[in-house]
Amino acid sequence: MKIVHAASEMFPYVKTGGLADVCGSLFKSLASVGHDVSFFLPGYRKIIESKEFESAKLKVVLQVELGEQFLRGEVWAISLGKRQTLYIIRRDEFYDRANLYGTRERDYDDNDRRFIYFSKAVVQAMRLLEIKADILHCHDWQTGLLPLFLRMTEQETGRSLALKTFFSIHNLAFQGLFPRSSFKLTNLSPEFNAIDGLEFYEQISMIKGGIFFSDKVMTVSPNYAREILTSEFGCGLEGALKVREDDLVGIANGIDMDVWNPKKDPYLLNHYSVNDLSGKELCQENLLKKVGLKKGEGPVYGMVARLTEQKGVDLLLKRMNFFVKNDCRLVVLGKGDPTYEKALRRWAKSHPEHIAICVLLDEEMSHLIEAGSDFFIMPSIFEPCGLNQMYSQRYGTLPLVSGVGGLKDTVIDVVSDPENGTGVVFEPNDLAFKQGLEDSLELFADKKAFDHTVLRAMRRDFSWKRVTSEYEALYQDSVYSD
Ligand code: ADP
Ligand code: GLC
Repeated sequence: MKIVHAASEMFPYVKTGGLADVCGSLFKSLASVGHDVSFFLPGYRKIIESKEFESAKLKVVLQVELGEQFLRGEVWAISLGKRQTLYIIRRDEFYDRANLYGTRERDYDDNDRRFIYFSKAVVQAMRLLEIKADILHCHDWQTGLLPLFLRMTEQETGRSLALKTFFSIHNLAFQGLFPRSSFKLTNLSPEFNAIDGLEFYEQISMIKGGIFFSDKVMTVSPNYAREILTSEFGCGLEGALKVREDDLVGIANGIDMDVWNPKKDPYLLNHYSVNDLSGKELCQENLLKKVGLKKGEGPVYGMVARLTEQKGVDLLLKRMNFFVKNDCRLVVLGKGDPTYEKALRRWAKSHPEHIAICVLLDEEMSHLIEAGSDFFIMPSIFEPCGLNQMYSQRYGTLPLVSGVGGLKDTVIDVVSDPENGTGVVFEPNDLAFKQGLEDSLELFADKKAFDHTVLRAMRRDFSWKRVTSEYEALYQDSVYSD
């Protein structure tokens, strides 16, 4: 099949979160099973300055209509192997910036222009480059309007650009909401500025465009696909999603088993596997040394996350005493809400023997924490899929997760299922988290049960190979369904 993806992030080129990991892996894995895959990304500074861009070729010049203006743009292509092309939409006014979406204080105030432009530019690029896809797959709000722009262009030109369009929701909490006045940038007819179109409580919602105007709506775990139909998790869009319920599918993400492999992870000083775990102990020593902690009686807990409400930082902050009281160690790597950063720093300062916090975005450190911890904490309030709980299992670090979204789909609770369990799953509330922490201590004290759980976790298959066949089946089904 000819498959085109468009998104605002892709590992290893640009990443702020799991979206990038997932796009990078999907791209690679679909190509590896023989599909012809193209990927469109905005030409951010980080990409233009990258080594890979040195081999990029200018393919075509665009004139994109944005409200009353026609704005020039360029499409550059980097060949990443047989049947794999990365297309970069370049317009430096929009993308040549230090960050992807904004500064620490606030989002860029022209994000509506930047991503409406990107979505239109992809459609124009497909037309001019005569790309005729079986599937166009868009991700998150930044590309929410792309399926609609594509269909509009097809109507105008009478030429098919993609047989089916897919839209993946990686996180419903980020919706791409803009003032209603931004609607004019779309050049769509006013009928789309309505409740059964883009309108959302007197604003326009880009994610709603993706939900209404793509052939299939996807999300990143089966459990989250069910949750978002409810008012508790639907972020106000549960009604719109209900309309698309028959076309809504959740497939849990996989992980890149090469990048995340304790047997040969280049960031680790010592390697290990299910057959020999001794390297893991050394990884722990190394991690503790690096963050200035010494081993205690209790286990080492790790956490790597954007420090936002979603990730359950409030729950964690309420229970910091647990680590001190039980002589545990907690290492947190995270960046985000300054209030959370400050609160965690305060704990690290007042309890330097037990708690370390690194306020950084640091790929290497995230690997060191995965390898060097005994437990990995994810007390998320909601979690479309989550990747770290899978990295953790692969690294023999037992995830301690709230039972929401993809966490529920990918971690088996060892308390209720001691034969098969691979982590501790608790309800997303304070008391249950407290209980979960205590359960982890109890498990740690039972060396035999703990070791068995670690091995079971490490043996699980979270590879993209398995996940990719689910995507393929879905693509095929939809292309051949009519
Ligand atoms: P989300 O996309 O909601 O942030 P995921 O669990 O899907 O959550 O993915 C998060 C990804 O970002 C993981 O690869 C994780 O290791 C990484 N990550 C998050 N915070 C940091 C950080 N401070 N430094 C390095 N990597 C981070
Ligand atoms: C989002 C979600 C996360 C998911 C990731 C990749 O950032 O918050 O749960 O794993 O997208 O799909």
